[in-house]
Amino acid sequence: MTIDWDPATREWHLHNGATSWVLAVLENGWLGHLHAGAPLATGRSYRHLYLGFPGYDNRVGEPVGLALPGPGVGDFRVPALVVETPDGATVLDPRYAGHRILAGKPAIGGGLPATYVEADEEADTLEIDLVDEPSGVRVTLAYTLFARWPVVARSMRVINGGTSGVTVRCAMSASLDLPDAAWTLIQLSGAWSRERDVVERPLVPGRQSIGSIRGGSGAEHNPFLGLRRVSTTESHGEAWGAALVYSGNHLCEVEVEPFGTARLRLGINPESFSWRLEPGETFRTPEAVLAWSEAGLGGVSAALHELFRTRLARGPWRDADRPVLLNNWEGTYFDFDHDRLVAMAGAAKDLGVELFVLDDGWFGARTDDTRGLGDWTVNLQKLPKGLDGLAADVHGLGLKFGLWIEPEMVNPDSDLFRAHPDWAIGVPGRKRTMWRNQLVLDLAQPAVVDHLATVIGDVLASAPIDYVKWDWNRYLTEPWTPALPADRQGELFHRYVLGLYELYARLTERFPSILFESCASGGARFDAGLLAWAPQAWTSDDTDAVERLAIQWGTSIPYPLSSMGAHVSAVPNHQTGRITPIGFRAAVAMFGAFGYELDPTALTDEERAEVRRQVAFYVERRDLFQRGRFLRLRSPFEGKRNEAAWMVADAAASRAVVGFYRVLHRPWPRRDRLVLRGLDPAASYEVTAWTSFDAPEGTFVRGGDELMRLGVRLEPPDPAPPEDLRNPDGTWIVRGDFQFRLFDLRRIGER
Ligand code: DGJ
Repeated sequence: MTIDWDPATREWHLHNGATSWVLAVLENGWLGHLHAGAPLATGRSYRHLYLGFPGYDNRVGEPVGLALPGPGVGDFRVPALVVETPDGATVLDPRYAGHRILAGKPAIGGGLPATYVEADEEADTLEIDLVDEPSGVRVTLAYTLFARWPVVARSMRVINGGTSGVTVRCAMSASLDLPDAAWTLIQLSGAWSRERDVVERPLVPGRQSIGSIRGGSGAEHNPFLGLRRVSTTESHGEAWGAALVYSGNHLCEVEVEPFGTARLRLGINPESFSWRLEPGETFRTPEAVLAWSEAGLGGVSAALHELFRTRLARGPWRDADRPVLLNNWEGTYFDFDHDRLVAMAGAAKDLGVELFVLDDGWFGARTDDTRGLGDWTVNLQKLPKGLDGLAADVHGLGLKFGLWIEPEMVNPDSDLFRAHPDWAIGVPGRKRTMWRNQLVLDLAQPAVVDHLATVIGDVLASAPIDYVKWDWNRYLTEPWTPALPADRQGELFHRYVLGLYELYARLTERFPSILFESCASGGARFDAGLLAWAPQAWTSDDTDAVERLAIQWGTSIPYPLSSMGAHVSAVPNHQTGRITPIGFRAAVAMFGAFGYELDPTALTDEERAEVRRQVAFYVERRDLFQRGRFLRLRSPFEGKRNEAAWMVADAAASRAVVGFYRVLHRPWPRRDRLVLRGLDPAASYEVTAWTSFDAPEGTFVRGGDELMRLGVRLEPPDPAPPEDLRNPDGTWIVRGDFQFRLFDLRRIGER
């Protein structure tokens, strides 16, 4: 893998055998994109690939494919960079000024999270400098191509090299011109408790975008955008996946112009953004990650999963086994005390659980969600032995101890707000919008970040805490900060996110052994930015297993299983009222960072025995669930949305677990086989089927080729159910709605 530069043709070719990106200095000094996607032969010029953009007498040869488009120069499409110069104009003419090809990947800087390498051989980086002579504005575009994946990470630095201040109005992390628009756009959209539905639409002329102006990435639209050809499936065909490594206001957009080409751009949402750059100052965009595959959407996911799991997540928990946890939230809500928690922890230990997590309500006057947020001192009425006493008792049971925090928020009814009302975001003299009785602390004020680093640091140092769940339960409104003058208020949202990242940096550096899980009213800030600090995230407040099939499926398009918190909760489910068998709930949650969210002391003996078997089943295969390759097999968004299937397989194709789920039973089911992937066609596999965690239903041997070409039989079930599950006429007894079937595969030799 390398990055070639040909001074004769003034072209760069980034190639790793799996993808190629070709850029060029154009005749006028602008930077052009000649190609991105399929791997191309090296040592050739691809100048002929650019398409003239017709209509402009003096712009002959300027292509459709621009790497840094700006406004006002006849392009008329969405720009990647808009800078207002002192004369009020926004016209830039950034021309090539030089470049560097670097081994490895330099740090992005500016406190931003980003992908990284551990050795220089893992990637090469091309940095291209462009200068707008009249204003002195300089731009550096960074392209890193990873050796292992068909992935390019792209970011931009804007430097004010002039003598007067300028204002950055739009600075996209990535801008990519594609030569045709025959793509279907994939977005992950939803709401609280139904995050990341897969929504698809064919590209049409004009702009199609998703984004957030809520101050966080949001449950409504994930900062991810996919493209697939009409014929692309999970395993075949061309696809793109573009993710923004950022947790704030974002824009993910494709514009199709009249000649039928498509421009994709991702970055901080310009609608709520401006940034003043004084002479000598630099603005850094977040990083965008662009994966291309011709092995279908699954190929894009495989690349992003490995990259995010191994070269975005950081710290000792990146690779360590994630503990099976029990969180008390749905089991108790605010109604707990020391003894009740210790009883729950004891019962959890007996089930095989490894980590006990105390959720909201342990601090200040927090007896419900109306008060106490911001006062990070333990509530001694509820916990008379303090956090350290509780942690000691939990540790004494042989469990790790975890704690919930929501540092970025404050209830008006709190000592913190009474002391520092100006620390909450709002416009003086105007009403502040309330949301869950709370306000957002102004992380654009360094004093607020300092305060939080101290008080949360004190909490984490006060007891042996192994895990933190970092929650965030409302969006930003009435954006205004006393930290900035009137003409710089457009910086607030991004400065908030930078403050958040600084707080994460300080706490994760001070407490490297703590496993952080991010959360935001469920999955409202599930993004690649936070995965750099917290290797797992609470996927959704919706713990209903049927809903989770869709939520986990959508989330899995960019994000790995190791990042997706997934818990078994009680029934009737607290979000949907649905009653599903506990086995079904566990069989879904295992395809994630597995845990429970219920009161284990309220389980029946039978349920306890069942949960013990579930935990044992998971722990025995944890390596596979956490680090295996995840493959989506049957979409819960297709057909009557009654079925779903997915699997994990290890890199050597020696072990795999397949999950098949049927929501409602239909009598006399049609004959059905589930085609698997990720196996070795030349191997033989022992396949063990489980329809409950009591005991496997049976075992059979099949060739990898058969399993991947014909599939494994679902109806009639393979193996046939035992005699006692058959009706007198030979048909099998159906277990009703919410059936699952896990197939455990072990390679036993060559075919
Ligand atoms: C929202 C989270 O998503 C829940 O899991 C829980 O932690 C509550 N907040 C606590 O207030």
